[in-house]
Amino acid sequence: MKQEVVPVPLSGPYLDGREEDAVIEVLRSGRLSLGPVIDRFEEAFASAVGAPYAAAVSSGTAGLHMLCVSAGITAGDEVITSPYSFAASANCFIYEGGVPVFADIDPRTLNLDPAAVEAAVTPRTKAIVAVDIYGYPCELDELRAIAQRHGLALIDDSCEALGARYKGAPLGSHGPSAVFAFYPNKQITTGEGGMVTTHSEEEWLLLRSLRNQGRGDSGGWLEHVRLGFNYRIDDIRAAIGIAQLEKLDEILELRAGVARRYNELLAGIDGVEPLCADDADHVRSWFVYVVALPDNEARERVIAHFEREGIGFNRYLPSIHLQPYIRERYGFHEGMFPVSEDMSSRTLALPFFTALEPDVQTRVVDALAAAL
Ligand SMILES: Cc1ncc(COP(=O)(O)O)c(C=O)c1O
Repeated sequence: MKQEVVPVPLSGPYLDGREEDAVIEVLRSGRLSLGPVIDRFEEAFASAVGAPYAAAVSSGTAGLHMLCVSAGITAGDEVITSPYSFAASANCFIYEGGVPVFADIDPRTLNLDPAAVEAAVTPRTKAIVAVDIYGYPCELDELRAIAQRHGLALIDDSCEALGARYKGAPLGSHGPSAVFAFYPNKQITTGEGGMVTTHSEEEWLLLRSLRNQGRGDSGGWLEHVRLGFNYRIDDIRAAIGIAQLEKLDEILELRAGVARRYNELLAGIDGVEPLCADDADHVRSWFVYVVALPDNEARERVIAHFEREGIGFNRYLPSIHLQPYIRERYGFHEGMFPVSEDMSSRTLALPFFTALEPDVQTRVVDALAAAL
């Protein structure tokens, strides 16, 4: 008789009865949106990351888009970002007519190489959207110095990096406005959702207005003082967020433990490069477990094996400049950002989530080793 393969998902949320209770409480309260639970979520989040202000939003992309509006990005402005990221890192300013200018990444950290960013600055550059890819803090101080030298806005796309620490302090506490995301594969989830942190009260008030259709803080429900969006989160999701945030330390620890086990299991396998290790200035918050394989052919071999074994995977991450719509619009082509392209051709995300069990990890690594 053929044995059933038990599928291993790529990711999954970490939930218990607390989220259920919190949701039921909101449902029974009758205040499903624009209610007090959102304020509580924002206060708890701001305090968790050491930021003075936080604004909850409907997604990470919505938060990034609003920061691009806040930075004054308009048609024709160039914005420098990483090609090795999720498309939203570039989409957020393209919505406003911003023109993507990519700078290649550091092959060790997979984050923007500050020297490449400096070289990409032109008189038309308006902003830098830095990314903390796979939860590893980018070179915030160097990027901030470049931004200051050239009078640019700096936005930190920390959508994958809640809980990461740069120079001893959490992302969100360092000054540049940052965005965190809560899709179910993230460290904490609200289903869909995001949070913007800022150190400026003025920007915070602007974000609150922009997410709420451009309404002002005073004035009526039907008065719109600027062009806004519906980027609101609701109280149901905010309640899930509060319950998740209460477990943040536990979640981060468990995820670091899962990553440590993968590191140990993979240590003896030739041709598998793990993500870079932490150092004194950078502490990763584990979002995904990505490995670099020798080449694309090896990656496809592993994928074929994973498919047979029911093991989840993803080709994290394709380079943004080679996405069909970006190529078509802006004329990017292969060979422009070789480090990003090389990593995109051979990096692979393995199943990774907070409650991933050691024996399942062994199964994943055995399959990987067999394929290689
Ligand atoms: C680096 C990065 N930026 C932005 C986003 C967008 O977040 P959301 O899916 O909540 O809009 C993500 C989400 O996967 C991401 O990984």
